[in-house]
Amino acid sequence: MPEQVTFSTRLIAWQKRAGRHDLPWQKTRDPYRIWLSEIMLQQTQVTTVIPYYARFLVSFPDLAALAAAPVERVIEHWAGLGYYARARNLHRCARQLVAVNAANWPKNEEALGELPGIGPSTAAAIAAFAFGRRAAILDGNVKRVLCRHFAIDEFPGKTAVDRKLWALARGLLPATDIEAYTQGLMDLGATLCTRSRPNCLHCPLAETCIARQQGRQAEFPVAKARVTIPERRSTFILISDGRRILLERRPPSGLWGGLLVPPEGETNQVLARLGLTLQNAQALPPLRHAFTHFRLTLEPVLCRVDESTQLGEAGIEWVDLAQAADAGVPAPIRKLLMRVASAAD
Ligand code: ADE
Repeated sequence: MPEQVTFSTRLIAWQKRAGRHDLPWQKTRDPYRIWLSEIMLQQTQVTTVIPYYARFLVSFPDLAALAAAPVERVIEHWAGLGYYARARNLHRCARQLVAVNAANWPKNEEALGELPGIGPSTAAAIAAFAFGRRAAILDGNVKRVLCRHFAIDEFPGKTAVDRKLWALARGLLPATDIEAYTQGLMDLGATLCTRSRPNCLHCPLAETCIARQQGRQAEFPVAKARVTIPERRSTFILISDGRRILLERRPPSGLWGGLLVPPEGETNQVLARLGLTLQNAQALPPLRHAFTHFRLTLEPVLCRVDESTQLGEAGIEWVDLAQAADAGVPAPIRKLLMRVASAAD
């Protein structure tokens, strides 16, 4: 038996027998109601959506009512659902359909996918549920189901893998029963093929699922590769006469370019470079700071010098300890200076 026959026929039979049948948006073919539910369900769980969906339909029973409402009122009905761009796009989409299409819905997934807020998977769900179109959905849950069933061993966020998954999803579509099939995929992802602890015992696709055969359910979908961030360490010499601290202006380019920073480098070398004599040096606890491309452990050394110390170098200046933290220094340096200031108090 070809793969897609076993996959879709088993899924459809399971959906009819054990899937969800009483969700509020399942009792209709009205594209307005189906669209609204699919948008609400994009980033939000079914149980959260249900009361919002009901209240929304009381206030905005159809496309014309929604298009006629001010956007602020629509957003008010969204309060608590999050991802408010969805509400703004919903309203824009309603106005566009009323103004341009005389409130008529496009009836295929390509045209639906061009409307505000409707991506390819949402377009396919609306096309399937409202118009019986043989269109493929591919949301996060469906990706998980396919990645497990077919042991897709690459990160699904990669363009090439995404393309492969879309091709797979289209190739699996049944000739008939698109509504039960589409709902079945959603139901399976939400109730059995869950991210953690999938319930394979009750899964209609367990027999052909490669992840399950290999006991590797937890390995799919493959997570994004973690790039290892380089670790660097560097010593910063906090030279203070008890009242002031020495800061050096960095060259314009490079890390912290143009900012004031304590001299960086090995203690004796820094002091020799500045022509200073050491009175005493004390290592302070290190401070870790994460940059985008590396992590830096700053190892501060506090050096006490005489108040009469003269500076031989340009670009280096005494800054009052009380003001140093606000003198345009980088964030981790600011933290170090605050430690010195409180130690001097
Ligand atoms: N998630 C996205 N669309 C859904 C739907 N129609 N029913 C249940 N969950 C969903």
